[in-house]
Amino acid sequence: MSLKNDLLLRAARGEKTERTPIWLMRQAGRILPEYRAVRERLSGFKELVETPELAAEVTIQPVDLLGVDAAIIFSDILVVPDAMGLPYELIEKVGPRFEKTIRSASDMDGIRIADPDDISYVYDAIKITKKALNDRVPLIGFSGAPWTLFAYMVEGGGSKTFSEPKRMLFQNPELAHRLLDMITESTIAYLKRQVEAGTDLIQIFDSWAGILAPDYYREFSLKYIKRICTAIDTVPVTVFAKGAWFALEDMADLDCQTIGLDWNMDATKVRSILPNKTLQGNLDPCALYGSFADIKKETRTMLDAFGDHPHIANLGHGVYPDTDPEKVKCFIESVKELSA
Ligand code: CP3
Repeated sequence: MSLKNDLLLRAARGEKTERTPIWLMRQAGRILPEYRAVRERLSGFKELVETPELAAEVTIQPVDLLGVDAAIIFSDILVVPDAMGLPYELIEKVGPRFEKTIRSASDMDGIRIADPDDISYVYDAIKITKKALNDRVPLIGFSGAPWTLFAYMVEGGGSKTFSEPKRMLFQNPELAHRLLDMITESTIAYLKRQVEAGTDLIQIFDSWAGILAPDYYREFSLKYIKRICTAIDTVPVTVFAKGAWFALEDMADLDCQTIGLDWNMDATKVRSILPNKTLQGNLDPCALYGSFADIKKETRTMLDAFGDHPHIANLGHGVYPDTDPEKVKCFIESVKELSA
């Protein structure tokens, strides 16, 4: 089967494309009233994630309603800790919470390398989505980076400083490596099953990359991302490490095709640091609070910064929940128009 719109995959392979492909991190859910309508009928976020027909439905919504060049499977990075024996819940307006956390060696009792069969609702959602998309656009699968998952598992939820996971790096690095290793093995098996189920590209989200000092980032995050990139060798891989501008040189050695940039990173500079990688990003999500005319102007500035380097347009992080979908459409249409 061949895709009708394969701009994203060709750009990921470093090929020149007729125009720049575009999708948005966190495009599924959050901003669309059509998502909220599905979500409100259910007991909560987890039920949506674990019901493949509905997860597929909200995955396809942004393709139909916004005109993006790829779908990203509706799920969450926290399904992996869940399958490792650390169940999460999502508290409305607060965020994710783990009832148990890992702070000591004895907290590891009951924690296991995930059996990928325990996350089969995601592969089912992928299969349904692929069928319903009917090759209109590629489907992106994803996972959290081990460091970001570790941060949630040790902290127990969101945090500004993530002091608890960082404490472990300084007080008990052996335990940290033991847990990171288990997360990495779980993630590799999980991503391989996503690819088998039909995803065309994989993105690794290291949302909390930016809180580590460079040496610590290399030791406790990049090393594990490298293992995942090497293991996922049949589809293109994108690594998005938010705030890790200090590690871009190291990322040249990763066995991945695309590096995601956040809005603090200067694309004109990164092009020369990563000449052999496709770059993804990186409009400030807050730019979508501007007027339609401003969004178009900002989009042009962003496209100019990437120049003729292989580029996948996106925001510099996930779209914020209070963004007007019409402004999102304006960004998407501006990329299509100005890059052609
Ligand atoms: O990109 C997509 O649209 C696909 C779906 C997706 C979700 N989460 C759905 C979701 C993806 C790719 C994620 C990844 C994710 N989840 C990350 C990495 C990306 C990033 O933003 O940095 C992180 C850190 C999480 C953990 C998480 N899940 C948090 C902090 C929260 C609460 C706050 C929020 O809305 O982001 C979630 C819940 C969540 N995951 C929602 C959605 C649509 C909101 C749930 C709802 O109210 O319906």
